[in-house]
Amino acid sequence: MLTPLDVLSVETWILMISAIVLFRFYIHKKWQFFKSRSIPYEPPTLLGLGSLVSFIKNPDGIFTRDLEFKKKYGPIFGIYSWLSPVLIIGDSEVLKQIFIKEFSTFPDRQNQFLKVNGKEMNTSLLSTTGDQWKRIRSTLTPTFSSSKLKAMMGIIEQCSDKTMESLKMISDTKGGRFDAKETFGRLSLDVICSAAFSANVHSQEGQETPKIIQMAKKAFSISFASPVMLLLFIFPWLETVLSKFDWSVFPRDMLTYFSGLTETLIEKRKSSELKQRVDLMQLMLNVKVSEEDVKNGATKGMTLNEIIGNSMIMILAGYETTGNAMLFLAYNLATHKDVQEKVQQEIEETIKEYGGLTYNGINNMKYLTMCINESLRLYTPVARNARIADKDITINGLNIPKGTLIHVPVYGMCHDDEYWDEPFEFKPERMEDMNKIDPMLYMPFGAGPRNCIGMRFALMEIKMGFCKLLQKFDLDVCEDTPSAPLKMLFRNSVQAKDDIFLKVVPRCNK
Ligand code: HEM
Repeated sequence: MLTPLDVLSVETWILMISAIVLFRFYIHKKWQFFKSRSIPYEPPTLLGLGSLVSFIKNPDGIFTRDLEFKKKYGPIFGIYSWLSPVLIIGDSEVLKQIFIKEFSTFPDRQNQFLKVNGKEMNTSLLSTTGDQWKRIRSTLTPTFSSSKLKAMMGIIEQCSDKTMESLKMISDTKGGRFDAKETFGRLSLDVICSAAFSANVHSQEGQETPKIIQMAKKAFSISFASPVMLLLFIFPWLETVLSKFDWSVFPRDMLTYFSGLTETLIEKRKSSELKQRVDLMQLMLNVKVSEEDVKNGATKGMTLNEIIGNSMIMILAGYETTGNAMLFLAYNLATHKDVQEKVQQEIEETIKEYGGLTYNGINNMKYLTMCINESLRLYTPVARNARIADKDITINGLNIPKGTLIHVPVYGMCHDDEYWDEPFEFKPERMEDMNKIDPMLYMPFGAGPRNCIGMRFALMEIKMGFCKLLQKFDLDVCEDTPSAPLKMLFRNSVQAKDDIFLKVVPRCNK
């Protein structure tokens, strides 16, 4: 019979056992992060790779997990993503420091998944850090000023009118039953492409799902449960290696499609007629700088690659989140007829008062705004937000070393019965006085200098879309509309698990 010493020498056995003991000791040391700071934490396990496996196995569990953990550990606690500590913070005072007062210590969302988005999208606002982010953000911010938004109103109205035409046809020929996910997705894509790039991408035309929608959907179907994602979580240094090969977490055909699209849009700008347009694309092209200028310390302007990458991210960020926000609002209004009637009344009064759907009129619609805010709370489009510490800092006695990743349980905070009465109910009245709502506990668009750059654009688009919709139609549920609360999926964004069919019924004399 073979003995262990027949297989390997004594020295090799000693070496192997020492390596295992040392490795175990190393892991143990890494997992002291929270204990040594007296921060409560979810106990990590070796085969659970800290707490990573439970997340990879069931990413959608994030909706209940964040709430359960808060009940178990309080608003500040830790989990381990394999060896890396992730500090979950749902405490308003600490968040205020992180997002606003100490922004210079927390300027970025993360240090992972920044270089594996494809070479163009690696330069987008979502993925850039430090001076590059500052330069691009300050270049893009003026695009979303009040005067620019006002100028884009007409375009948004035209896109909304196209949606109403197709809903009218559905109402005339199909009894009004429509796929709300598809309809609002197509509208939001049309709006962002038309308003920001003066491009007609035909996203609202035809019965078949247009190619642009198919490709945009691919960007949001990424699952955290893939083997490569797991490897990237376990070995973060792999990202540097993979980025050398321009490997991307996004499907290659989707990247090629969108970079081709934006390159074509840039090419079209060479015509003098389009150069007159004041849109996002022209604004970026007007301040185009070379790679050389950037190396020499330019603090304004964007390179061609950055223009392509940021055009892509605006299209994608503008499409999914806003489309979903409209879908959830439509669902909430269809299932709350009394609320819907009040919005319709407000629309009529606003049109009368302002002589039409004007920029000021739309912005002053208090009740519609309350419904949007409440819908964004109930079906939060971005479930978690994040920041990473750029240097050591202590906040309210909480010691946060450089490199610590902080996650904000946005969805959890929006559904916590400590802050909201009947949190799973749609109650717009609770949003009546926004001064009474803590902006750190309710942050659907993030907070501080790195909040959502498209927030005001999105809100205007939603308001215009619903003014048009509810002016002409009543929204209703169909036999197969899922009942509330909707089941959600946590992918690149928060999505409804099931198809959501709703019904439009034309309003008399409208
Ligand atoms: C209802 C719609 C939307 C929601 C709920 C939403 C939500 C968010 C959130 C939570 C963030 C992270 C903010 C933070 O870290 O504090 C974000 C960032 C961002 N959003 Fe939105 N967003 C929406 C619409 C849009 C639109 C329409 C655009 C483009 C026109 C857009 C472009 C971006 C960009 C580029 C960033 C990165 C900003 C930066 O890092 O500087 N979003 N969004």
